[in-house]
Amino acid sequence: MIAKIAPKMALAAALAVSATALHAERIVLTADAMVDVENGRLVSDPVITIIDGEITDASSGEATAGEGDEIINLSGMTIVPGLIDMHVHLTGKATDHGYRRLQISHERAAITGVVNAKKTLMAGFTTVRNVGAPSFSDVALRDAIAEGDVPGPRLFVSGPSIGITGGHCSDNNLLPEEYGLVGEGVADGPWAARAKVRRNLKYGVDLIKTCSTGGVLSKGTKVGAPQYTLEELTALVEEAHSHGLKVASHAHGTEGILNAIKAGADTIEHSSFISDEGIELAKKQGTYLSMDIYNTEYILSEGEEAGILPESLDKERQVGATQRESFRRAHAAGVKMVMGTDAGVYPHGDNANQLSRMVRFGMTPGEALRAATYNAADALGQKGNIGVIAVGASADIIAVAGNPLEDVSLLENVIFVMKQGEVYKSE
Ligand code: ARG
Repeated sequence: MIAKIAPKMALAAALAVSATALHAERIVLTADAMVDVENGRLVSDPVITIIDGEITDASSGEATAGEGDEIINLSGMTIVPGLIDMHVHLTGKATDHGYRRLQISHERAAITGVVNAKKTLMAGFTTVRNVGAPSFSDVALRDAIAEGDVPGPRLFVSGPSIGITGGHCSDNNLLPEEYGLVGEGVADGPWAARAKVRRNLKYGVDLIKTCSTGGVLSKGTKVGAPQYTLEELTALVEEAHSHGLKVASHAHGTEGILNAIKAGADTIEHSSFISDEGIELAKKQGTYLSMDIYNTEYILSEGEEAGILPESLDKERQVGATQRESFRRAHAAGVKMVMGTDAGVYPHGDNANQLSRMVRFGMTPGEALRAATYNAADALGQKGNIGVIAVGASADIIAVAGNPLEDVSLLENVIFVMKQGEVYKSE
Protein backbone atom coordinates (compact mmCIF):
# COMPACT_ATOMS: atom_id res chain seq x y z
CA MET A 1 0.00 0.00 0.00
CA ILE A 2 2.85 2.33 0.67
CA ALA A 3 5.00 3.22 -2.28
CA LYS A 4 8.44 4.45 -1.54
CA ILE A 5 9.37 5.66 -4.96
CA ALA A 6 12.37 7.79 -4.20
CA PRO A 7 15.83 6.60 -3.21
CA LYS A 8 17.04 7.49 0.26
CA MET A 9 19.35 10.42 0.68
CA ALA A 10 22.93 9.30 0.34
CA LEU A 11 24.08 8.32 3.81
CA ALA A 12 27.55 9.74 3.40
CA ALA A 13 26.21 13.13 2.45
CA ALA A 14 23.88 13.14 5.41
CA LEU A 15 26.65 12.22 7.81
CA ALA A 16 28.82 14.96 6.41
CA VAL A 17 26.28 17.61 7.46
CA SER A 18 25.62 16.61 11.03
CA ALA A 19 24.24 13.76 13.08
CA THR A 20 20.78 15.33 13.16
CA ALA A 21 20.75 15.62 9.39
CA LEU A 22 20.36 11.85 9.33
CA HIS A 23 16.69 12.39 10.16
CA ALA A 24 16.34 15.54 8.13
CA GLU A 25 15.22 13.83 4.95
CA ARG A 26 11.87 15.00 3.73
CA ILE A 27 8.83 12.79 3.72
CA VAL A 28 5.97 13.62 1.39
CA LEU A 29 2.79 11.85 2.47
CA THR A 30 -0.34 11.74 0.35
CA ALA A 31 -3.76 10.16 0.86
CA ASP A 32 -7.26 10.27 -0.63
CA ALA A 33 -8.58 12.47 2.12
CA MET A 34 -7.80 14.04 5.47
CA VAL A 35 -10.04 14.86 8.41
CA ASP A 36 -9.76 18.50 9.44
CA VAL A 37 -10.59 17.80 13.10
CA GLU A 38 -10.87 21.43 14.07
CA ASN A 39 -13.76 22.02 11.68
CA GLY A 40 -15.10 18.48 11.28
CA ARG A 41 -14.62 18.50 7.50
CA LEU A 42 -13.03 16.19 5.00
CA VAL A 43 -10.26 17.62 2.81
CA SER A 44 -9.46 15.78 -0.45
CA ASP A 45 -6.02 14.91 -1.72
CA PRO A 46 -3.92 16.10 1.20
CA VAL A 47 -0.19 16.49 0.67
CA ILE A 48 1.79 16.58 3.90
CA THR A 49 5.48 17.38 4.06
CA ILE A 50 7.47 16.23 7.06
CA ILE A 51 11.00 17.11 8.06
CA ASP A 52 12.60 15.88 11.26
CA GLY A 53 9.34 14.57 12.68
CA GLU A 54 7.52 17.85 12.18
CA ILE A 55 4.92 18.86 9.63
CA THR A 56 6.44 21.63 7.53
CA ASP A 57 3.74 21.89 4.89
CA ALA A 58 0.12 20.79 4.65
CA SER A 59 -1.68 21.44 1.41
CA SER A 60 -3.87 19.59 -1.06
CA GLY A 61 -3.80 18.71 -4.72
CA GLU A 62 -0.86 17.45 -6.75
CA ALA A 63 2.14 16.20 -4.80
CA THR A 64 5.52 17.39 -5.88
CA ALA A 65 8.43 15.53 -4.41
CA GLY A 66 12.05 16.45 -4.77
CA GLU A 67 14.94 14.13 -5.35
CA GLY A 68 15.76 12.23 -2.20
CA ASP A 69 12.31 12.69 -0.70
CA GLU A 70 10.65 9.64 0.81
CA ILE A 71 7.16 9.28 -0.59
CA ILE A 72 4.35 7.64 1.36
CA ASN A 73 1.29 7.20 -0.79
CA LEU A 74 -1.77 6.17 1.23
CA SER A 75 -4.13 5.78 -1.68
CA GLY A 76 -7.63 4.73 -0.71
CA MET A 77 -7.03 5.99 2.83
CA THR A 78 -8.18 8.88 4.95
CA ILE A 79 -5.63 10.39 7.30
CA VAL A 80 -6.49 11.63 10.78
CA PRO A 81 -4.25 13.20 13.43
CA GLY A 82 -2.89 10.58 15.82
CA LEU A 83 -5.53 9.94 18.49
CA ILE A 84 -5.16 11.07 22.10
CA ASP A 85 -6.65 9.16 25.04
CA MET A 86 -6.79 11.36 28.14
CA HIS A 87 -7.37 8.61 30.68
CA VAL A 88 -5.39 5.39 30.59
CA HIS A 89 -3.54 3.16 33.04
CA LEU A 90 -0.83 1.53 30.93
CA THR A 91 0.60 -0.32 33.91
CA GLY A 92 -2.72 -2.04 34.58
CA LYS A 93 -4.16 -5.16 32.94
CA ALA A 94 -7.83 -5.74 32.22
CA THR A 95 -7.53 -9.32 33.42
CA ASP A 96 -6.15 -8.41 36.84
CA HIS A 97 -8.68 -6.71 39.05
CA GLY A 98 -9.54 -6.78 42.75
CA TYR A 99 -7.38 -9.03 44.90
CA ARG A 100 -5.29 -10.15 41.90
CA ARG A 101 -3.69 -6.71 41.90
CA LEU A 102 -2.07 -7.41 45.26
CA GLN A 103 0.19 -10.01 43.66
CA ILE A 104 1.68 -7.55 41.22
CA SER A 105 4.85 -5.67 42.15
CA HIS A 106 5.47 -2.18 40.87
CA GLU A 107 8.34 -3.53 38.78
CA ARG A 108 6.06 -6.10 37.15
CA ALA A 109 3.48 -3.39 36.52
CA ALA A 110 6.13 -1.31 34.77
CA ILE A 111 6.85 -4.18 32.38
CA THR A 112 3.13 -4.49 31.71
CA GLY A 113 3.28 -0.82 30.83
CA VAL A 114 5.87 -1.48 28.13
CA VAL A 115 3.64 -4.08 26.49
CA ASN A 116 0.54 -1.90 26.69
CA ALA A 117 2.29 1.19 25.38
CA LYS A 118 3.01 -0.66 22.13
CA LYS A 119 -0.56 -1.96 21.84
CA THR A 120 -1.89 1.55 22.36
CA LEU A 121 0.37 3.08 19.73
CA MET A 122 -0.50 0.37 17.21
CA ALA A 123 -4.18 1.17 17.78
CA GLY A 124 -3.54 4.70 16.53
CA PHE A 125 -3.05 6.53 19.82
CA THR A 126 0.09 8.59 19.42
CA THR A 127 -0.38 10.43 22.72
CA VAL A 128 -1.98 9.28 25.97
CA ARG A 129 -2.35 10.72 29.44
CA ASN A 130 -1.59 8.16 32.14
CA VAL A 131 -3.56 9.10 35.24
CA GLY A 132 -2.34 7.05 38.18
CA ALA A 133 0.51 4.54 38.27
CA PRO A 134 2.48 2.81 41.01
CA SER A 135 5.70 4.51 42.09
CA PHE A 136 6.94 6.51 39.15
CA SER A 137 6.75 3.63 36.68
CA ASP A 138 4.90 5.92 34.30
CA VAL A 139 7.68 8.52 34.42
CA ALA A 140 10.19 5.79 33.54
CA LEU A 141 7.99 4.51 30.74
CA ARG A 142 7.49 8.00 29.33
CA ASP A 143 11.23 8.56 29.26
CA ALA A 144 12.03 5.14 27.79
CA ILE A 145 9.58 5.83 24.95
CA ALA A 146 10.86 9.36 24.41
CA GLU A 147 14.44 8.08 24.28
CA GLY A 148 13.48 5.46 21.70
CA ASP A 149 14.15 2.40 23.87
CA VAL A 150 10.64 1.01 23.49
CA PRO A 151 7.77 1.90 21.13
CA GLY A 152 4.78 3.72 22.54
CA PRO A 153 2.70 6.85 22.47
CA ARG A 154 3.98 10.17 23.76
CA LEU A 155 3.03 10.06 27.43
CA PHE A 156 1.82 12.68 29.87
CA VAL A 157 1.98 11.09 33.30
CA SER A 158 0.73 11.78 36.82
CA GLY A 159 2.72 9.36 38.97
CA PRO A 160 0.81 8.13 42.06
CA SER A 161 -2.70 9.56 42.43
CA ILE A 162 -3.19 11.86 45.41
CA GLY A 163 -6.17 11.33 47.71
CA ILE A 164 -7.61 10.90 51.20
CA THR A 165 -6.97 8.02 53.61
CA GLY A 166 -9.16 5.15 52.48
CA GLY A 167 -10.21 7.01 49.35
CA HIS A 168 -10.41 5.95 45.72
CA CYS A 169 -6.94 7.43 45.09
CA SER A 170 -5.49 5.29 47.89
CA ASP A 171 -4.66 1.57 48.00
CA ASN A 172 -8.15 0.23 47.16
CA ASN A 173 -8.66 -0.81 50.80
CA LEU A 174 -8.24 -4.51 50.08
CA LEU A 175 -6.22 -5.52 53.15
CA PRO A 176 -7.07 -5.32 56.87
CA GLU A 177 -5.27 -2.82 59.07
CA GLU A 178 -2.53 -5.16 60.34
CA TYR A 179 -0.94 -5.23 56.89
CA GLY A 180 -0.30 -1.50 57.18
CA LEU A 181 -0.81 -0.78 53.47
CA VAL A 182 -1.14 2.94 52.75
CA GLY A 183 -1.49 4.31 49.22
CA GLU A 184 1.59 6.20 48.03
CA GLY A 185 -0.38 9.35 47.34
CA VAL A 186 -2.41 9.44 50.55
CA ALA A 187 -2.50 12.90 52.08
CA ASP A 188 -5.06 14.43 54.43
CA GLY A 189 -5.27 18.18 54.83
CA PRO A 190 -4.29 21.05 52.50
CA TRP A 191 -0.60 21.07 53.40
CA ALA A 192 -0.20 17.33 53.18
CA ALA A 193 -1.86 17.43 49.77
CA ARG A 194 0.50 20.21 48.68
CA ALA A 195 3.46 18.16 49.89
CA LYS A 196 2.37 15.20 47.72
CA VAL A 197 2.11 17.49 44.71
CA ARG A 198 5.66 18.67 45.39
CA ARG A 199 6.88 15.09 45.76
CA ASN A 200 5.31 14.04 42.47
CA LEU A 201 6.80 17.07 40.76
CA LYS A 202 10.22 16.24 42.19
CA TYR A 203 10.10 12.80 40.56
CA GLY A 204 9.12 14.10 37.17
CA VAL A 205 5.35 14.04 36.63
CA ASP A 206 3.59 16.12 33.98
CA LEU A 207 0.28 16.51 35.79
CA ILE A 208 -1.52 15.70 39.02
CA LYS A 209 -4.28 13.11 39.41
CA THR A 210 -6.56 13.34 42.42
CA CYS A 211 -9.91 11.94 43.53
CA SER A 212 -12.78 14.11 44.69
CA THR A 213 -15.28 11.25 45.14
CA GLY A 214 -15.28 7.53 45.77
CA GLY A 215 -15.01 5.09 42.88
CA VAL A 216 -16.42 1.96 41.36
CA LEU A 217 -13.37 -0.27 41.61
CA SER A 218 -12.11 0.67 45.09
CA LYS A 219 -13.41 -1.37 47.99
CA GLY A 220 -15.70 0.39 50.43
CA THR A 221 -15.81 3.81 48.77
CA LYS A 222 -19.08 5.43 47.73
CA VAL A 223 -19.29 6.85 44.22
CA GLY A 224 -21.67 9.55 45.45
CA ALA A 225 -19.57 10.64 48.43
CA PRO A 226 -17.16 13.56 48.10
CA GLN A 227 -13.50 12.95 48.93
CA TYR A 228 -11.37 15.90 50.01
CA THR A 229 -12.97 19.11 51.20
CA LEU A 230 -13.11 22.10 48.90
CA GLU A 231 -10.31 23.59 51.01
CA GLU A 232 -8.04 20.59 50.42
CA LEU A 233 -8.79 20.43 46.71
CA THR A 234 -8.24 24.15 46.27
CA ALA A 235 -4.83 23.89 47.95
CA LEU A 236 -3.86 20.90 45.81
CA VAL A 237 -4.90 22.58 42.56
CA GLU A 238 -3.26 25.87 43.50
CA GLU A 239 -0.02 24.08 44.30
CA ALA A 240 -0.09 22.14 41.04
CA HIS A 241 -0.92 25.18 38.93
CA SER A 242 1.83 27.21 40.56
CA HIS A 243 4.28 24.69 39.05
CA GLY A 244 2.54 24.63 35.70
CA LEU A 245 0.96 21.22 36.28
CA LYS A 246 -2.64 20.57 35.26
CA VAL A 247 -4.98 18.60 37.51
CA ALA A 248 -7.24 15.69 36.59
CA SER A 249 -9.85 14.92 39.22
CA HIS A 250 -11.65 11.60 39.38
CA ALA A 251 -15.27 12.40 40.29
CA HIS A 252 -18.51 10.44 39.93
CA GLY A 253 -20.77 12.09 42.54
CA THR A 254 -22.54 15.43 42.10
CA GLU A 255 -20.97 17.28 45.01
CA GLY A 256 -17.42 16.06 44.41
CA ILE A 257 -17.69 17.09 40.76
CA LEU A 258 -18.74 20.60 41.82
CA ASN A 259 -15.92 20.78 44.35
CA ALA A 260 -13.34 19.81 41.74
CA ILE A 261 -14.62 22.36 39.24
CA LYS A 262 -14.74 25.08 41.91
CA ALA A 263 -11.21 24.22 43.02
CA GLY A 264 -10.05 24.76 39.44
CA ALA A 265 -9.32 21.20 38.28
CA ASP A 266 -8.62 21.15 34.55
CA THR A 267 -10.39 17.92 33.65
CA ILE A 268 -13.11 16.00 35.46
CA GLU A 269 -12.74 12.25 34.99
CA HIS A 270 -15.92 10.12 34.72
CA SER A 271 -18.33 12.99 35.62
CA SER A 272 -21.11 10.41 36.07
CA PHE A 273 -23.64 12.25 38.23
CA ILE A 274 -22.93 15.78 37.03
CA SER A 275 -25.79 18.19 37.81
CA ASP A 276 -27.01 21.04 35.63
CA GLU A 277 -25.19 23.33 38.04
CA GLY A 278 -21.98 21.35 37.43
CA ILE A 279 -22.51 21.56 33.68
CA GLU A 280 -23.02 25.32 33.83
CA LEU A 281 -20.00 25.83 36.04
CA ALA A 282 -17.79 23.66 33.82
CA LYS A 283 -18.92 25.68 30.81
CA LYS A 284 -18.22 28.95 32.57
CA GLN A 285 -14.76 27.91 33.71
CA GLY A 286 -13.81 26.05 30.56
CA THR A 287 -13.34 22.79 32.46
CA TYR A 288 -13.07 19.73 30.25
CA LEU A 289 -15.07 16.57 30.96
CA SER A 290 -13.45 13.22 30.25
CA MET A 291 -16.14 10.54 30.34
CA ASP A 292 -15.27 6.84 29.98
CA ILE A 293 -18.58 5.69 28.57
CA TYR A 294 -17.34 2.46 26.97
CA ASN A 295 -15.88 1.13 30.21
CA THR A 296 -19.21 0.02 31.62
CA GLU A 297 -19.70 -2.54 28.84
CA TYR A 298 -16.47 -4.36 29.67
CA ILE A 299 -16.96 -4.17 33.44
CA LEU A 300 -20.45 -5.62 33.30
CA SER A 301 -19.66 -8.35 30.77
CA GLU A 302 -16.11 -9.44 31.63
CA GLY A 303 -15.57 -7.86 35.04
CA GLU A 304 -16.53 -10.77 37.24
CA GLU A 305 -14.18 -13.10 35.37
CA ALA A 306 -11.43 -10.47 35.64
CA GLY A 307 -11.63 -10.38 39.43
CA ILE A 308 -13.70 -7.23 39.94
CA LEU A 309 -15.33 -7.37 43.37
CA PRO A 310 -19.09 -8.01 43.55
CA GLU A 311 -19.61 -4.69 45.35
CA SER A 312 -17.84 -2.92 42.47
CA LEU A 313 -20.10 -4.64 39.95
CA ASP A 314 -23.07 -3.36 41.99
CA LYS A 315 -21.64 0.14 41.90
CA GLU A 316 -21.12 -0.11 38.15
CA ARG A 317 -24.80 -0.93 37.73
CA GLN A 318 -25.58 2.36 39.49
CA VAL A 319 -23.11 4.40 37.49
CA GLY A 320 -22.96 3.23 33.85
CA ALA A 321 -26.38 4.15 32.48
CA THR A 322 -26.51 7.49 34.30
CA GLN A 323 -23.03 8.39 33.08
CA ARG A 324 -24.10 7.88 29.48
CA GLU A 325 -27.13 10.12 29.95
CA SER A 326 -24.91 12.69 31.65
CA PHE A 327 -22.61 12.55 28.63
CA ARG A 328 -25.58 13.31 26.38
CA ARG A 329 -26.74 16.21 28.60
CA ALA A 330 -23.30 17.71 29.01
CA HIS A 331 -22.57 17.52 25.30
CA ALA A 332 -25.97 19.00 24.38
CA ALA A 333 -25.29 21.87 26.81
CA GLY A 334 -21.99 22.58 25.06
CA VAL A 335 -19.47 21.62 27.73
CA LYS A 336 -15.95 21.05 26.44
CA MET A 337 -15.16 17.35 26.20
CA VAL A 338 -12.12 15.19 25.65
CA MET A 339 -11.94 11.48 25.05
CA GLY A 340 -10.76 9.51 28.10
CA THR A 341 -11.40 5.78 28.25
CA ASP A 342 -9.86 4.29 31.42
CA ALA A 343 -8.14 1.63 29.28
CA GLY A 344 -6.38 -0.70 31.65
CA VAL A 345 -9.71 -1.41 33.29
CA TYR A 346 -10.54 -2.83 29.84
CA PRO A 347 -7.97 -4.06 27.30
CA HIS A 348 -5.39 -1.62 25.98
CA GLY A 349 -5.64 -1.27 22.23
CA ASP A 350 -9.45 -1.22 22.36
CA ASN A 351 -9.42 2.49 23.25
CA ALA A 352 -11.08 3.55 19.98
CA ASN A 353 -14.16 1.45 20.77
CA GLN A 354 -15.38 4.42 22.78
CA LEU A 355 -15.68 6.70 19.75
CA SER A 356 -18.80 4.98 18.44
CA ARG A 357 -20.39 5.21 21.91
CA MET A 358 -19.65 8.94 21.96
CA VAL A 359 -21.60 9.14 18.71
CA ARG A 360 -24.38 6.93 20.07
CA PHE A 361 -24.75 9.27 23.03
CA GLY A 362 -25.00 12.49 21.12
CA MET A 363 -21.86 13.53 19.27
CA THR A 364 -21.35 13.66 15.54
CA PRO A 365 -18.36 11.59 14.37
CA GLY A 366 -16.56 14.89 13.77
CA GLU A 367 -17.17 15.97 17.37
CA ALA A 368 -15.99 12.62 18.72
CA LEU A 369 -12.79 12.86 16.66
CA ARG A 370 -12.26 16.43 17.77
CA ALA A 371 -12.59 15.33 21.42
CA ALA A 372 -9.95 12.67 20.78
CA THR A 373 -7.51 15.02 19.03
CA TYR A 374 -7.86 18.79 18.96
CA ASN A 375 -9.65 19.19 22.33
CA ALA A 376 -7.38 16.70 24.05
CA ALA A 377 -4.32 18.60 22.84
CA ASP A 378 -5.84 21.81 24.19
CA ALA A 379 -6.55 20.21 27.58
CA LEU A 380 -2.94 19.03 27.71
CA GLY A 381 -1.68 22.53 26.97
CA GLN A 382 -0.34 21.20 23.65
CA LYS A 383 -2.55 22.99 21.13
CA GLY A 384 -0.79 23.22 17.79
CA ASN A 385 1.86 20.66 18.76
CA ILE A 386 -0.33 17.56 18.58
CA GLY A 387 -3.94 16.71 17.72
CA VAL A 388 -3.86 18.37 14.30
CA ILE A 389 -2.31 17.78 10.91
CA ALA A 390 -0.98 21.29 10.38
CA VAL A 391 2.28 23.12 9.88
CA GLY A 392 4.37 23.14 13.05
CA ALA A 393 2.70 20.10 14.59
CA SER A 394 4.44 16.82 15.30
CA ALA A 395 3.94 14.39 12.42
CA ASP A 396 1.52 12.14 14.30
CA ILE A 397 -0.65 10.76 11.54
CA ILE A 398 -2.84 7.68 11.30
CA ALA A 399 -4.93 6.33 8.44
CA VAL A 400 -8.12 4.34 8.00
CA ALA A 401 -9.84 2.87 4.94
CA GLY A 402 -12.92 4.98 4.26
CA ASN A 403 -14.54 8.09 5.66
CA PRO A 404 -14.50 8.22 9.48
CA LEU A 405 -16.89 11.19 9.44
CA GLU A 406 -19.48 8.75 8.15
CA ASP A 407 -18.43 5.77 10.25
CA VAL A 408 -16.31 6.59 13.27
CA SER A 409 -15.86 2.89 14.10
CA LEU A 410 -13.34 2.77 11.23
CA LEU A 411 -10.91 4.05 13.87
CA GLU A 412 -11.12 0.60 15.49
CA ASN A 413 -9.04 -0.64 12.53
CA VAL A 414 -6.19 1.75 12.04
CA ILE A 415 -4.04 0.74 9.07
CA PHE A 416 -1.18 3.18 9.30
CA VAL A 417 0.50 4.82 12.30
CA MET A 418 3.19 7.48 12.19
CA LYS A 419 4.47 9.20 15.32
CA GLN A 420 6.85 12.11 15.05
CA GLY A 421 7.57 11.24 11.45
CA GLU A 422 8.39 7.61 12.15
CA VAL A 423 6.20 4.85 10.72
CA TYR A 424 5.24 2.23 13.32
CA LYS A 425 2.49 0.45 11.43
CA SER A 426 1.70 0.11 7.77
CA GLU A 427 -0.63 -2.69 6.68
N1 ARG B 1 -11.85 3.75 37.47
C1 ARG B 1 -13.24 4.06 37.59
C2 ARG B 1 -13.70 3.82 39.00
O1 ARG B 1 -13.26 2.88 39.59
C3 ARG B 1 -14.02 3.24 36.64
C4 ARG B 1 -15.43 3.64 36.46
C5 ARG B 1 -16.03 2.81 35.40
N2 ARG B 1 -17.41 2.96 35.21
C6 ARG B 1 -17.94 3.78 34.37
N3 ARG B 1 -19.22 3.73 34.20
N4 ARG B 1 -17.27 4.60 33.70
O2 ARG B 1 -14.51 4.54 39.50
